[in-house]
Amino acid sequence: MPMPLPDTIAIDGPAASGKTTVGLLLARRLGYLCLDTGSMYRALTLAAIRRHVRPDDEAGIVRLAHECDLDVMPLAGETDGRLYTVLLDGEDVTWELRLPVVDAYVSQVSTYPEVRAEMVRRQRAFGRRGGVVMIGRDIGTVVLPEAALKLYVTASAEERAQRRLVDRRRQGHYDDDYETILADVVRRDHHDSSRQHSPMRPAADALQIDTTGRTVEEVMDQIMALFNGIPSQERA
Ligand code: DC
Repeated sequence: MPMPLPDTIAIDGPAASGKTTVGLLLARRLGYLCLDTGSMYRALTLAAIRRHVRPDDEAGIVRLAHECDLDVMPLAGETDGRLYTVLLDGEDVTWELRLPVVDAYVSQVSTYPEVRAEMVRRQRAFGRRGGVVMIGRDIGTVVLPEAALKLYVTASAEERAQRRLVDRRRQGHYDDDYETILADVVRRDHHDSSRQHSPMRPAADALQIDTTGRTVEEVMDQIMALFNGIPSQERA
């Protein structure tokens, strides 16, 4: 059954499931703001690495979460393949957030309840603007449980590792291999879904979308078909 255009859309799912691509495209088509909350946990992790705060130093990480200034901004004409720009204390750190060392530590940094509380507070403030697509692991369950539409985007671990490998190659990293990336994807899935505080899981009322073997266009068509009343020029 088609639904009226939801004011707030929550998109969750595991690493490299396609949720960010789908979320950003959806926001562009609807003229909505978009926040990829994973980039906030990544920026906090980078801040910790830079300031030599160890990921197992919970009190230190919590302090940083309160102190650091994080901004996620839409594209402003950049042509280097970025999807958005992330500022950490005013500095553009968009590409550094993808460093393997950030991948290695971000799951641990994002397990601390006080860190999550602070990030969720910031994310809800963004959500209150309305006309928002928010992407993460706990958006439909914790951050915006009242969201009018919740999507849970998945794909097989093998396909997600393959996509990540292609992304890394596109960014000029040719020394990564498939098996290492697959192991990291599986490790992070386990960490993110088994943590005690707001684990990654679909909200009871989320629509689950499996993107394995499907193109972005096919997935977008499925999502756009949910809505009625979209002006035709926004469907292009
Ligand atoms: O989506 P991503 O790979 O950029 O997310 C990086 C990490 O941040 C992920 O391993 C788990 C964490 N995360 C989270 O705990 N909650 C969110 N809402 C978003 C990301």
